[in-house]
Amino acid sequence: MALRQIREIGDEILLKISKPVTAMTKRTEELIEDMIETMYTADGVGLAAPQVGVLKRVVVIDVSEEGDEPIVLINPEVLETSGEQTGNEGCLSVPGKTGVVTRPNYAKVKALNEDMEEFIIEGEGLLARALLHEIDHLNGVLYVDKVEGELLDTAAISEEKEQ
Ligand code: NI
Repeated sequence: MALRQIREIGDEILLKISKPVTAMTKRTEELIEDMIETMYTADGVGLAAPQVGVLKRVVVIDVSEEGDEPIVLINPEVLETSGEQTGNEGCLSVPGKTGVVTRPNYAKVKALNEDMEEFIIEGEGLLARALLHEIDHLNGVLYVDKVEGELLDTAAISEEKEQ
């Protein structure tokens, strides 16, 4: 395993559309392992492959308290959303910033696991937000385009973030 460099806003790769994974290869297995390690090291709750410079439809997420339950999603597709949540969002590719984004409160997503087997994941609240944020990355979309009002420095709202 190895840490990968996280691409930051301004890097054009973040605006590109990622390609579906057609078969699990050694290279993709390594990518997934590296993405999980990179996400945990950066203290993030999710990471999409284009954020480490690879245009493949691969996402890792962990919104658990302990940060030890990584979910791997390959070729994820949103099947259903409902409700609404408004809250602060951040992104490892936009360091030190946060902004208010409204998203559905529930998302049902179909994806492949590391064995290329289909599964369905349903998420509410933070998990729904993470799923939709990461899938946006695969389509070249950054949350900064969805922010209501100003993008703020995280230091300025640290008390809110601790909730
Ligand atoms: Ni992000």
